[in-house]
Amino acid sequence: MTLDSTTATSAPVSPAAEEEAFKNDPTATLEGVRGKDVTKAAKALLKDSAKRGGGSIQMQDVVKIYPGSTKRALDDFNLDIKPGEMVVLLGGSGCGKSTALRSLAGLEDIQGGRIMVGGQDVTGVPVNKREMAMVFQAYSLFPHMTALENVEFGLEVRGVSKEERRKIAMEQLDLVGLADQAKKYTQQMSGGQQQRVALARALAVKPRVLLLDEPLSALDAKVRVQLRDQIRRIQLSTGTTTVFVTHDQEEALAVADRIGVMNNGKIEQIAAPQDLYQRPATEYVATFIGLTNRLPGASNGEEAVVFGQRMPLLAGSAAGDAVAVLVRPENLALSLPGQHDSNIGEHARVEVIHFLGSLVRVDTVITSGEFQRWNKGEQLKVTVQLPANELPAGLAAGDEVIVTPRPVAALAC
Ligand SMILES: Nc1ncnc2c1ncn2[C@@H]1O[C@H](COP(=O)(O)OP(=O)(O)OP(=O)(O)O)[C@@H](O)[C@H]1O
Ligand SMILES: [Mg+2]
Repeated sequence: MTLDSTTATSAPVSPAAEEEAFKNDPTATLEGVRGKDVTKAAKALLKDSAKRGGGSIQMQDVVKIYPGSTKRALDDFNLDIKPGEMVVLLGGSGCGKSTALRSLAGLEDIQGGRIMVGGQDVTGVPVNKREMAMVFQAYSLFPHMTALENVEFGLEVRGVSKEERRKIAMEQLDLVGLADQAKKYTQQMSGGQQQRVALARALAVKPRVLLLDEPLSALDAKVRVQLRDQIRRIQLSTGTTTVFVTHDQEEALAVADRIGVMNNGKIEQIAAPQDLYQRPATEYVATFIGLTNRLPGASNGEEAVVFGQRMPLLAGSAAGDAVAVLVRPENLALSLPGQHDSNIGEHARVEVIHFLGSLVRVDTVITSGEFQRWNKGEQLKVTVQLPANELPAGLAAGDEVIVTPRPVAALAC
């Protein structure tokens, strides 16, 4: 049984599969998993970890090559996280997000580099000694246990007394809004509720680091948004250092202190959501976060001319006579030919108008054939976004407009 398969839900699990889950789940793994013998060391560990609060994380030049593969799933991967910070790893399928998380948790051996938590080198340290907790995409709860028993479980394993673990488990269930469901078996709960139990179980052990691998992707859109906001509130209130993996950019933008955009086993850029959006370092990052237009321009590396408009360029921009300048839809203005009083801008024809409430997105196609060769023979399509009240009255598909870039810093590539 793999824990992060989308199919695993509350279906009964065999004892063998359960053992496997124990092994894979850092919240549930400690030597002598089911034994009643209480180790003092485990107790001290838990108390100590609670006192310390969130831990810093450094992953330095980490290399991961899976057995039988020659490809580096992590390729000199570097990540530096401050205590209490919430970092989201974002990237397309197969870029190495889960591998980064599993390596950090100690669920995967690494072939190079080192991993530090709270200033201590944990590179060779087994998963159950890293004081981390992980929540997976699938609910990975024990269906024959109630919500309360599931949350208590990690505490029992760590040798916390019955009375104390009941108290902590109830507090955690309350934190995720499930105090009244404590006695329910998890198989009687909805997906969103089960994932909240999994979250409570992870938090109950007061981990130094909380790792979330697409914890919301099996849920429907509305529950996803609610739970995402709840995770962020809890994370802020507990100050737990958290790494959250997703391939959903909206989710990333909504919860992260910083977002690391991954590509081919590396972080291509890591920055606060707004910085990443406004100052992407590469074309991959620019296209991964938000919409962007590729417009033909002439660049000297510091400034470009696009549709006659001079635009400042971001650091790392390419120079050349026919570069692509990446311009966000809201950084384009739209006017009617009769009302356009400058020679800057390019004629275009409206294709589709999308009303998005307070905003309007207008898909256009540039009418001059001049740019087609640059665009590999394809018509150049340009999307403009503007406040709904700035849309020229009566504008409709087929109308002629003029599209003008605003002089906002952009990336040329
Ligand atoms: N157990 C494994 N054995 C061999 N290769 C693996 C294994 N797990 C992952 N890989 C490979 O390592 C690379 C990174 O995989 P990983 O699961 O980290 O990607 P991901 O970014 O989490 O993708 P997704 O968004 O689909 O979950 C991929 O090329 C994948 O095929
Ligand atoms: Mg993954």
